[in-house]
Amino acid sequence: MNIDANTEIYGVIGYPVRHSLSPVFQNAGFRHLGINAVYLAFEIPPKELKTAILGLKGAGVKGLNVTIPHKEAVLELCDWISEEVKEIGAVNTLKFSERIEGYNTDWIGFLRAVEEVESIKGKKVLLLGAGGSSKAIAYSLHREKVKVYIWNRTKEKAEKLAEKYGFIVIDRPEDVLEEVDMIVNTTSVGLKDDDPPLFDYSLLKPEHTVMDIIYKETLLVREAKKKGCRLVSGLSMLVHQGARSFEIWTGCKAPVKVMKRALGIKD
Ligand code: ATR
Repeated sequence: MNIDANTEIYGVIGYPVRHSLSPVFQNAGFRHLGINAVYLAFEIPPKELKTAILGLKGAGVKGLNVTIPHKEAVLELCDWISEEVKEIGAVNTLKFSERIEGYNTDWIGFLRAVEEVESIKGKKVLLLGAGGSSKAIAYSLHREKVKVYIWNRTKEKAEKLAEKYGFIVIDRPEDVLEEVDMIVNTTSVGLKDDDPPLFDYSLLKPEHTVMDIIYKETLLVREAKKKGCRLVSGLSMLVHQGARSFEIWTGCKAPVKVMKRALGIKD
């Protein structure tokens, strides 16, 4: 990449962010299309969020992805938010023009990743978790009119989402395993190798489709593989949400295959 005085800057803000794979595939996208731009990772502690956003905008940065823990906090810094952000309550994409525009592309990233593997229509889904990531996925599932059972460690949060979208709150994931077609983990459980399972994974069946939005091989994913379950990749969701952000910023169709290849994902 030839960086010169006209190179445009994009990036991701998070805390921590050094593990992020977004720079790898976003830069591959820019390179492939010959766009004179770079995509960097900015590690911004929560107390610096406002200063950082205004500073980056002031310095001419064109757009940012927003990740943990800033997705909800950036809302109040936006001058304009999309209809989806109004519904979901979280922003994962900022576009800087005269104003600060907030978008959410997680919900479509989820849907595209799932639809690569199978149609979600008519499915029964067990949604684990009710945090920031879950909100975008819940919106997606609601749009697709699928039947959703939701479980969360803190039941009140599950109840809020359930009330909003007509989901059914459950006390134990085990109670609906016989009935559901798909299991989606949106909790952070599995991120650490010694995390205990969220439920008895030996009850998984080959008929289940399993998705863990954590994009490493978690215990859930390992057990699902052993059982012969169909898997939806969390890494694929990462690429698809980023690809949509890329399109919002550049107006160009994102080279999804190239982006995936940059992360070693085979089609
Ligand atoms: P994100 O933006 O990644 O979704 P978050 O909003 O902090 O992050 O949500 C984290 C999710 O993981 C929540 O559903 C959380 O459950 P609580 O609402 O009860 O906090 C879940 N989670 C985190 N640690 C957990 C644990 N040890 N056991 C079960 N669920 C856990």
